[in-house]
Amino acid sequence: MKVEVKAVSLSVRQDAQTVELLKEVSLAVRLGMIHALLGPSGSGKSTLLYTINRLRPIQQGKIMLEGNDIRQLNVFELRRRIGLVMQKPIFFPGTIGENILYGPSLWAKDNLSSVDPKHYLELVQLEPDWVSRDPNTLSGGQQQRVSLARTLANNPEVLLLDEPTSALDAQASEYLETLITNLCHKQELTVIWVTHDVHQAERIAQDVTLLYQGRAVEHGLAERFFAGPCTEEGRAYLAGKLGGEL
Ligand SMILES: Nc1ncnc2c1ncn2[C@@H]1O[C@H](COP(=O)(O)OP(=O)(O)OP(=O)(O)O)[C@@H](O)[C@H]1O
Ligand SMILES: [Mg+2]
Repeated sequence: MKVEVKAVSLSVRQDAQTVELLKEVSLAVRLGMIHALLGPSGSGKSTLLYTINRLRPIQQGKIMLEGNDIRQLNVFELRRRIGLVMQKPIFFPGTIGENILYGPSLWAKDNLSSVDPKHYLELVQLEPDWVSRDPNTLSGGQQQRVSLARTLANNPEVLLLDEPTSALDAQASEYLETLITNLCHKQELTVIWVTHDVHQAERIAQDVTLLYQGRAVEHGLAERFFAGPCTEEGRAYLAGKLGGEL
């Protein structure tokens, strides 16, 4: 397995109470596959991605990258190997080009000249000339794509995508689905893809995990899940009837 999440739990203190955001979540992500992470709003999807990227602590349980506990890895090295595209992109001060080159300037100092930010903009169907623009002047969907371009420039082994097409139209979404699918096939890129779009998950994913109230209530092959979930929660989710915050 490329990534294994083993019984990971996370709780926070809020208003003098302990709130459990993740409850013994386990999932296995296969090399070169797209693993869709589904679940209603507030079920813990973003929290889980942050935990895999060590933006959140692993309080209990383990996360393994190719059999190695990610806590043993240098955190910068980990974030180069596991790229995160956040739900709401956050940019460093500077131009789009500088944002794209930020990662490579840390990990690929010696051959930085070989990294062309324009290439990554073209890859996500944006104007290559936008390298000199301020990313904050772009639309939401354009910002999502710059954020993806910036992550791809690090040549990650694993990509954590948090609703990367939520602000895109159908055509741009379809292009991005094809782009990522091709990277999986050609470079064995491994992806965890959070989406609220069940049809999208059905198109792109080989494996599925359904989170509900911080628990992984169902996981397995996407084909089997979409043909007929095994759990009450799975059936309710596909029927559009699984709501609820923690
Ligand atoms: N630091 C925090 N303190 C308290 N509660 C938090 C904290 N961070 C997240 N939560 C809560 O944890 C739950 C899970 O949040 P998370 O952002 O992971 O959900 P999500 O599944 O990504 O939802 P969405 O689909 O809306 O993006 C939410 O109820 C959220 O309010
Ligand atoms: Mg989220």
